[in-house]
Amino acid sequence: MNQQGRPTQPGEATPMRRRTFTGNRALDIEEALIFESGRLDATGVDIDEPGPFADRLGEHGRVAPIGLPGLTEPETIRHYVRLSRNNYSIDAGLYPLGSCTMKHNPRLNEKMARLPGFADAHPLQPVSTVQGALELIRALARLLLTMTGMQAVAMSPKAGAHGELCGMMAIKAAIAAEGEGATRKVVLVPDSAHGTNPATAALIGFSVRAVPAGADGIVSAAAVRAALGPDVAAIMLTNPNTCGLFEREIVEIAAAMREAGAYFYCDGANFNAIVGKTRPGDLGVDAMHINLHKTFSTPHGGGGPGAGPVVLSQRLAPFAPVPFVVERDGALELVEHAEGTSSFGRMSAFHGQMGMFVRALAFILSHGADGLRQASEDAVLAANYVRVVLGDLMSAPFGDRPCMHEALFDDRWLQETGLTTLDFAKAMIDEGYHPMTMYFPLVVHGAMLIEPTESESKESLDRFIHVLRTLAQEAKAGKRERFEGAPHLAPRRRLDETMAARKPILRWKPKDLPQAAE
Ligand SMILES: Cc1ncc(COP(=O)(O)O)c(C=O)c1O
Repeated sequence: MNQQGRPTQPGEATPMRRRTFTGNRALDIEEALIFESGRLDATGVDIDEPGPFADRLGEHGRVAPIGLPGLTEPETIRHYVRLSRNNYSIDAGLYPLGSCTMKHNPRLNEKMARLPGFADAHPLQPVSTVQGALELIRALARLLLTMTGMQAVAMSPKAGAHGELCGMMAIKAAIAAEGEGATRKVVLVPDSAHGTNPATAALIGFSVRAVPAGADGIVSAAAVRAALGPDVAAIMLTNPNTCGLFEREIVEIAAAMREAGAYFYCDGANFNAIVGKTRPGDLGVDAMHINLHKTFSTPHGGGGPGAGPVVLSQRLAPFAPVPFVVERDGALELVEHAEGTSSFGRMSAFHGQMGMFVRALAFILSHGADGLRQASEDAVLAANYVRVVLGDLMSAPFGDRPCMHEALFDDRWLQETGLTTLDFAKAMIDEGYHPMTMYFPLVVHGAMLIEPTESESKESLDRFIHVLRTLAQEAKAGKRERFEGAPHLAPRRRLDETMAARKPILRWKPKDLPQAAE
C-alpha cells in the first residue's frame, strides 16, 4: 500500500526509472545550483545607476565583481519552487522522526499568526501600541504555568537548546547567590540524554558526570544517589526520556537532588506525551523548557523558527531572565532591565518568537484542556500501536514495556541479514516514507526511533506499518538488493558518508563566473 492507500503487492518489481538525456525525470526537474544557472548581467529588479558619489572605501573597495548569480523574477521563482518540491514535509506525508514530534500544524494557527496586529508588530514599537501582543504573551505564559504547575516562566528562549541554556543559567545564578558557585561545578547527565544537555552544561562552565541508565532504559534513583556529591549543581533529566519511556523514579530523583542542595533541570522536549496527564511541578522539577514547536505544533525544522519557554520553580523564579510582562495601573509593561534584581540577565534581543506564541496559544485554546489531554493520549496510543504490531518482526531493546510517544527498536533483528539500520531506513524512502530517527538514542545499538504523533489516522498508521512489515520480511528473506545502495529512486542516491567526512567540499567553486572575492 502506498501513502495514498493504492494497493501494491509485497515484492512487486519496481520499474527503475529510465535515464533521460536532460537528467530530468518526467516533470521532476533536475535543478542546477543558482550559481550555475545565474548570469552576471541578469536581474529581477530595475535599479537606477547611482549618481556621482564620493568613494571613501579606498583600498577596502572591491576590485572584482562579487560574482552573485543574476536571475530574472520568473527564473528565481522557478528555482525556489523546484527546490521546494524536493523538500519533504509533514504536509506531504507521515514524518516518523522520533524525538522531533513532526505533527500536523493546524491551519487555524497559521490564520491567527497572520492577523496584522500580530504579524506586523515590531519589537521596538511603543509598548502602549502593542498591548494586545503583550496580553497574548501573558495569556500563553499563564497557560504554560497552569499546565506545568510551576511558578515562573521565561518566554524569550528561541529553541529547546536555548531554553536549556536559560534554565541552567538560572540554576547557576541561584547557586552563586547561595555562595556555592565555586564548589558546585558538576552536572549529572544520563548517558541516554539528548546531546544538547551535556553541551549546555559544558557551555556555561560545568563539567558533566554521566549517570548510566539501567537495563530497563530508565535512570534509577540509586544511580543518581551514587553520582551525587557536594560538588553537584544539578541533574539534567529528560522525561519522557529519549528512549520513549517515562522516568518512573522521577519523584525520588527530585527528592534526592533537593536533599543534596542541588537542582533538577528537566528536559521537557517530550512534554507532548504528558500534557494534561501530569505536571512537572508536582514531580519536583526546578526548571524545564517546553519546545512549543513540538508540543504545541508550531512549524519547525525547515518550516519555521522554534520557541523554548522555560518554566521555573519558586526557588529559581527570582533568577528568571528579562524581559517579562507585568501589569501596572491597568496597562501591560515590559520589565527590560536586570540591574538591581537577581535576574541573571537576558537571553536574546526582544521578547521571543511572537509568531510561535500566537500559533501555540491558538493550538492550546482550540484544543482545550480535554483536547490537549486527548492529544497526549493519542500520541502514546499511536506509538504503542506501532510498537506492538511490529514487535514480532523487529526487536525492541526494553522488551514489551509500553512506551510513551515514540516506539524504539534496535538492530538485533537485522543481525542475521547482514543489513544495517541505515539500509532499512533508506529502503523506506524508495517506498515513499521518510525514515524514522536512526542511531539515536546512542545507548541503543542501531536504534530506530519512530514517533507517529497523534495527528496520523489509523489508516495512515496501517499503511506505514504495512510498508515496514513488508520491508522487514524481505530483509529477513535475504532480498538484499532492495536495501543495498538504497534509495534507488530518490533524486539523489546514498551519500558516501566516509568521503563526506574525510574530504568535505565546503565551498562551491565557480567555473565560469569570476572568482568570488574572499
Ligand atoms: C530531548 C530533547 N532535548 C532537547 C532538544 C533540543 O530542542 P531544539 O531542537 O528546539 O533546540 C530536543 C530536540 O528535539 C530533544 O528532543
